Amino acid sequence: GEVHYYEFVLAEKNFTKLCNTTSKLVVNGSTPGPVIRVHKGDTVYVNVHNQGYYGVTIHWHGVKQPRNPWSDGPEYITQCPIEPGSNFTYEVIFSTEEGTLWWHAHSDWTRAYVHGAIVILPAIGTTYPFPKPDDEDIIILGSLYSGNLKANVDYDLTYGADLPHSIGYTINGEPGDLCPCSKETTYRRVVDHGKTYLLRLVNSVVAADMFFAIAEHNLTIVGMDANYIKPITTSYIMISPGQTMDILLTANQTLGHYYIAARQSWSTIVEITDFDHVNATAIIEYRGNYTIPLSPSFPSTLPTYKDLKAAIRFSNLFRSLASKDHPVNVPLNITTRMYVTLSFSLIDCQNSTCTTLGGGELLATSANNISWSNPVPTDILQAYYRNISGVYTTDFPDQPLYYYNFTADDLPDDIAITDIGSKVKVLNYNEVVEVVFQGANLMSASGTHPMHLHGHSFYVVGSGFGNYNNETDPKTFNLVDPVEVNTFGVPKNGWLAIRFVANNPGVWFWHCHIDRHMTWGMAAVFIVKNGGTAETSIRKPPPH
Ligand code: C2O
Ligand code: CU
Repeated sequence: GEVHYYEFVLAEKNFTKLCNTTSKLVVNGSTPGPVIRVHKGDTVYVNVHNQGYYGVTIHWHGVKQPRNPWSDGPEYITQCPIEPGSNFTYEVIFSTEEGTLWWHAHSDWTRAYVHGAIVILPAIGTTYPFPKPDDEDIIILGSLYSGNLKANVDYDLTYGADLPHSIGYTINGEPGDLCPCSKETTYRRVVDHGKTYLLRLVNSVVAADMFFAIAEHNLTIVGMDANYIKPITTSYIMISPGQTMDILLTANQTLGHYYIAARQSWSTIVEITDFDHVNATAIIEYRGNYTIPLSPSFPSTLPTYKDLKAAIRFSNLFRSLASKDHPVNVPLNITTRMYVTLSFSLIDCQNSTCTTLGGGELLATSANNISWSNPVPTDILQAYYRNISGVYTTDFPDQPLYYYNFTADDLPDDIAITDIGSKVKVLNYNEVVEVVFQGANLMSASGTHPMHLHGHSFYVVGSGFGNYNNETDPKTFNLVDPVEVNTFGVPKNGWLAIRFVANNPGVWFWHCHIDRHMTWGMAAVFIVKNGGTAETSIRKPPPH
């Protein structure tokens, strides 16, 4: 592959959105930031200069980075933050990925504005598994916050329940002309009748699954998380934070203007103010001679907020291509099984090192009753590689601490009490792993949890509602053509079963991609050990 170089300069800049001017930390003066464009198999060096006023790291979401956890990015997992006034060069190694991914800050919620698309074209001399589109475009769904995001997050982490909230959503950085003060800046895309466009859709929203549709046009999804899938033709999409999709749009309607629209699908406990029903919009404009309508038509197929049925129906549609050129290798002989509850929880501050302003309990999230806490000021990778003790422990449990009816109503609060710590799960090289994530309704706060794994992609072999049953549910698994992704939603009050081979030595974060859940502790780490040869071991650390 080829080698490409990028310079990213992180700095604060004023932006006026929804009639308010606030300073945001962004890359190279814009949000979304620069597009990284490569062919499959290329390598990219990105020199990140931090001219902001707090430490930040960047993650290359969905890029597996074989044997190269040094450049993966999550703060305190694989590196310490890039401090203001300093820089860090990431080496981003593209291996099997093809399609659309994205990069984003991996420090608190900074990714709200620090993100951009990654376009991975087929390797030179190869082509898409579908007719070549005439042109392409990038569509990034985003969120807007009032005031200063960093202050919001610090506030959120201190006060627990008192939530900062998103004040709106964006398409390519713009709320669109249904929102106040947004008419001039609405994102517009001109299309030619009869042509087909490849839309590269990214959900960079901080805390919500999103519905997405284009008025009077069907969408054909051909890829997800930089893997090709069996084409799905649909009139609407549900996309979780972190996910990416490749979509074919054929401009085959009457010449005119059509809204592209996105709205919140679901979000746990974030019953945000007036913006629940407000839509982020952009406009498709056909080229040609016609009377421009007073307003574009709006997609009638866009499901309404909290239409959980529409969300679930959609997420069950995905299948891998499973063809000769794009084979599926679902691992069958599982060597490590994990059953992991995901829940809202309480940290008892009498027994832990947390502080609250009020009572003795801190609202948190957890996985198997452990609320992940970053091992500030070291990172897990350094500690592992250099054998520094006292930074993390290796006792992340394979099973829930308590068994109860996970999805029942009115569960008692005392089973919500959770430990806090940096507990990792160690896997041998080539370990064959099945994880069943179980959504729990503790504190009556169930929701969807888009679970994301670094360093690997995984097959989604099953999902369902209620409590996972390890006798009957495995019989329903799809071992023939399950979709291979890096992020997938655990249904509200349900479970999700995934499988992967731990064939990438390193230190890999996994977490819910709703940032509130992640920063409150719904996260943990896999350490994948070296395989015994140089080619199966972590590469040497980059020079300092
Ligand atoms: Cu897209 Cu750990 O993140
Ligand atoms: Cu979550």
